[in-house]
Amino acid sequence: MDFELLLCFILLIADFHRISCLFVTDINVPEIVDFRDNVTLSCSYDMSGHTLNSVKWYKDKMEFFRYSPMMHPVYMKFPVTGIQVQDGKYFCNESTCRIELSLLGAKSTGAYKCEVSGDAPLFKLADKADNMTVAALPQSDPLIESFNSMYRMEELLSATCTSDYSSLPTRLTWYINGEQASLGELQPSIDTSIPAHDYILRRQKLQVRFYLSGPRFYHAGKILELKCVAEIENFPELKRETSLNAALIHYDNLNNQMLIHAGSGASGSASAFTHHSSRKSIPLLFVIYLLLSSALSFL
Ligand SMILES: *[C@@H]1O[C@H](CO)[C@@H](O)[C@H](O)[C@H]1NC(C)=O
Ligand SMILES: *[C@@H]1O[C@H](CO)[C@@H](O)[C@H](O)[C@H]1NC(C)=O
Ligand SMILES: *[C@@H]1O[C@H](CO)[C@@H](O)[C@H](O)[C@H]1NC(C)=O
Repeated sequence: MDFELLLCFILLIADFHRISCLFVTDINVPEIVDFRDNVTLSCSYDMSGHTLNSVKWYKDKMEFFRYSPMMHPVYMKFPVTGIQVQDGKYFCNESTCRIELSLLGAKSTGAYKCEVSGDAPLFKLADKADNMTVAALPQSDPLIESFNSMYRMEELLSATCTSDYSSLPTRLTWYINGEQASLGELQPSIDTSIPAHDYILRRQKLQVRFYLSGPRFYHAGKILELKCVAEIENFPELKRETSLNAALIHYDNLNNQMLIHAGSGASGSASAFTHHSSRKSIPLLFVIYLLLSSALSFL
């Protein structure tokens, strides 16, 4: 309970004659919005039995909207840069005030304040404010390209991830089977920027390159998952991600295939793919040698 509320509560209990106890209980201003959206701002207040004189909305200390139920007109709009209250899309009463704005790009960014005033003779004021950032936000998930549906162990994998254009800097992160890619597996990122809608829109492209070798792939099973996450600093709620799967062909599969072709029951050990053919031919030659030598001993 804040001090003002506490004081008011004490005054109410003490029954001081009609001392104004006026609070803005809540203000609802989105923290970050895309400039293509419409936004609704709202404010709730507790008059504690007093008459409402007016509710005023300010952007950066400049009044742009007023509700005064005892005056004519009841609703008034004032021209303020970056503000466009939609026609007929507002509603205020003794406990709440709601307005809908069309956004006008970066110039709609600012501090929005709702100020409530009580009746004469005190005209006590109460207010609450919040900041709103109007930006060009990514409209789509990051795009993964050059990723195949199937890979063999030891193969070099390279794929790129591209974030959608945004006026706020985006950070891309690659995850390989749930583990963040190391710096050595990443190429330097490429940033592209274009001016549009009064913003400088940026997009990042990040390539990941690595060999499918080592224990993390032996233990990973037969699925390879690549995930690209696009994050905007200070706004975790704007995180977007894309993940894709590929089949991963292990040695065992290859060995079994080759053993079937060679007609032998011996099991091969894991080794580089290029060594397989020479290794597999040794037991076969040995079997032929044994067969020939036993046939010769019968003669
Ligand atoms: C915003 O409001 C205007 C006017 O009511 C409407 O034409 C437009 O489609 C709305 N835009 C969005 C993104 O909802
Ligand atoms: C004011 O309007 C809101 C929303 O329409 C409603 O829930 C509330 O009861 C109204 N308050 C008064 C005091 O009429
Ligand atoms: C709004 O932003 C200003 C300046 O960036 C900051 O000083 C202020 O504390 C912010 N207000 C709120 C309610 O977050």
